[in-house]
Amino acid sequence: MTSPRPRLLLAQRQTPAVMARAQKDFTVFPVPETQMTTARLLDAAARFQPDAIMVSTSLPVRGTDVARLPSSVRVIATVSVGTDHLDIPAIAARGIALSNTPDVLTDCNADLALMLILAASRRAAEYLALMKKGWGRGLAMDEMLGCRVTGKTLGIIGMGRIGRAVAQRARGFDMKVLYSNRRRLPPEQEKDARYFATPEEMLPHCDILSLHMPASAASDGMIDARMLGLLPRGAIFINAARGALVDEDALIAALRDGHLAAAGLDVFRNEPTPDARLLELPNVFATPHIGSATMETRTDMGMLALDNVEAALQGRPLLTPVTG
Ligand code: 8YV
Repeated sequence: MTSPRPRLLLAQRQTPAVMARAQKDFTVFPVPETQMTTARLLDAAARFQPDAIMVSTSLPVRGTDVARLPSSVRVIATVSVGTDHLDIPAIAARGIALSNTPDVLTDCNADLALMLILAASRRAAEYLALMKKGWGRGLAMDEMLGCRVTGKTLGIIGMGRIGRAVAQRARGFDMKVLYSNRRRLPPEQEKDARYFATPEEMLPHCDILSLHMPASAASDGMIDARMLGLLPRGAIFINAARGALVDEDALIAALRDGHLAAAGLDVFRNEPTPDARLLELPNVFATPHIGSATMETRTDMGMLALDNVEAALQGRPLLTPVTG
């Protein structure tokens, strides 16, 4: 007699390859069209008594949610590198294993950051809007001009895996790379980038600023009016990390008065309903939190999450554990 397949609760539909593997190896709770809310996840968990749960960044599991999970749950695998949507101590206190999906999404997140840099600097949103209206008249030589990207100075806050991959791509545009990070990188990782112990020291030197650090209580709203004010007038601001890092009132003010020439934003404080004032600004190029959204990367993320679930349920060490 074969033992029953473990029970997996997927809060979101995954790519076809990930779904096929999940359905082959697990008993899967009926998957919603797009994704569950936390309330629906908790309700489904109570009824389904899963061994494992897969979530992602848009599905917070806070302390009170963790307390309501049934005792059947042995592992939570988040299909994301970020873990700010999870109460890690509460999950650990329940003895539930926790994994995330680092590395496999580094390239796509860095590609997206470059897309935001290029699109914001070269006014992609405004040109697209003009083309959608039919174009209609030749632009004057000095009309609707963007900012040159090649050769500019890029400042990166948070020089982890994604920050370093952004730096690598920026070198292809002959950019000078500056970074600020909790610690200075070893020479083989730093390469030709210049280290600043604090963002405050780095900001006055940046033509473009790109955020690549995780969100935490300590970093909430750290990019505020004072920090934006340290950037040179006409700088470009990029955020493909977390919306909570930014004081959006200050960002809107800086974009309105021209202190910032433009912003490229993939993340917002209120997702999926960002501040409408940001989206209305012509100098904002915005995308809906899609840093990892390619078929290849989402499949790699889902497969890594399943690898972690299997490891946890078979009593093996997790491949990519999250620890406090
Ligand atoms: C999202 C991300 O998980 O991994 C992260 O931390 O922010 C992204 O990859 C993904 O876009 C799903 O929302």
